[in-house]
Amino acid sequence: MTNLMIYLTAGAFLPRDLELPLPLNGWELEIILVALFLLHILFVNLMVGGSLLTVLFEILGLTWPKYDDLARRIGATITVNKSLAVVLGVGPLLAINLLYTTYFYSANALTGYAWMGLIPLIILVFLLTYLHKYTWDRWTGPKKKRHIGVGVASAFLFLSIPLVFLSNINLMLFPDQWSEVAGFFSSLQIGNVFPRYFHFLMASLALTGLFLAGWFGRKRFPVEEHLPQFTRPELRRLFYRVAFYVTLAQVVFGPLLLLTLPSIGVTVTLVLVISAGVVVASIVMVLLWSELRSSDARIGRFYAPILVIFAVVVVFMGTGRHVYREASVEDHRQKMASRSDAFRAVSLAAHMRLDAGMSLGEGLAMGPTGKSVFKNCAACHAFDRVLAGPSIVEVQEIYAGDIEGIVTWAKNPGKKRDQFAPMPSFAHLGEEKLQLVAEYILEMGQEKPEEQTEATTES
Ligand code: HEC
Repeated sequence: MTNLMIYLTAGAFLPRDLELPLPLNGWELEIILVALFLLHILFVNLMVGGSLLTVLFEILGLTWPKYDDLARRIGATITVNKSLAVVLGVGPLLAINLLYTTYFYSANALTGYAWMGLIPLIILVFLLTYLHKYTWDRWTGPKKKRHIGVGVASAFLFLSIPLVFLSNINLMLFPDQWSEVAGFFSSLQIGNVFPRYFHFLMASLALTGLFLAGWFGRKRFPVEEHLPQFTRPELRRLFYRVAFYVTLAQVVFGPLLLLTLPSIGVTVTLVLVISAGVVVASIVMVLLWSELRSSDARIGRFYAPILVIFAVVVVFMGTGRHVYREASVEDHRQKMASRSDAFRAVSLAAHMRLDAGMSLGEGLAMGPTGKSVFKNCAACHAFDRVLAGPSIVEVQEIYAGDIEGIVTWAKNPGKKRDQFAPMPSFAHLGEEKLQLVAEYILEMGQEKPEEQTEATTES
């Protein structure tokens, strides 16, 4: 408890490192983390983007009924994508646990209820998604509003869940500010959660646009049967357009995101990786643009190259994200490592002294000392002042040379003085510690009064 207070007031959480070997080399785990994360976020993007587009088109469908059919077909993809997103989320969570143990757990603890709330939220949003999917035929006419309401509610939840994850993953990067955080909402003020979140939402829409252009554009999708009021090229163009304009916005605003990043993690490598990603993204833009301008007969011919190049962009962005994270925590990691070194040195020294038959000495003692036990008394007893109990000077007068007397009293205090509340018993400390503290109390003020009066505030 006292240590915690020291860390809190000093504004630095500086634990020692865990002295456990990783199951794989650091860099192998890093590759696994980035790869698994990208796979996971792909389906998260499709789930979030899918649910946004579904409600959007369902609302448009109130005026132009053909969009209602489209909304329904998009909605049908969400449940699969969300299941994949969740299952594939386990991998990166495990990898991050191993690589960033201290950082991850601290951020989990600090975002508190919101982090734990993820479980019920995820269950709720799953149920809502299925409800939305299976009531499409039943909740029509006057019940249509209710149906849209369910869609809006699940889209809203799909939007909030990533915000909780993001606040957590963001908080990890700024250990110096952990002492200022009390729960999820205050964690949102650290770093650049909102610009990152916005960037993520746009990526979700762009990716979903690209996905749906292929999903509805593929040969085996029965357009005439499921979406009779659309043609295949029309659908392709519609979703290419979504992907194009959103990616355009990303290419323009994305680099600005770099400016909102707290400078601690911004390195030359990061800027290079992100710039490379932007350059490759421009190639995607050019291909999308030429797709949008091609005739019905030719649209779709660049679909595969677009996907491949887009995947390269995503790898650059995912790598950039990792590079940023590493740079942010580097300084703290070094401090933590030197704390571990210092601890190891002290502990080694203690063992060597013990082996050589020497005593540990006051400073290194692992066991209790009179001074350390006195912490239990210091809230009420000071050397020459009356706190909640009589001063030590007075105690010394009563018990001069009588260690046992103090021990007996502390085990079973009586009621003597009217101006004080009764003293609680300290029998639980045990005979040995009470002996030590009694000796300490009786010696107090005899040798070095300055040091001993301070003892009341020391831990
Ligand atoms: C929560 C406050 C509190 C704490 C903590 C506390 N005391 Fe006391 N202590 C008192 C009070 C109050 C009295 C006076 C009780 C009375 O006279 O009725 C007292 C009195 C005493 C006396 C004088 C008894 C006498 O015969 O006059 C001794 C000795 C003493 N405490 C020892 C200790 C020791 C040793 C500890 C720590 C292990 C300790 N106290 C912790 C409140 C405290």
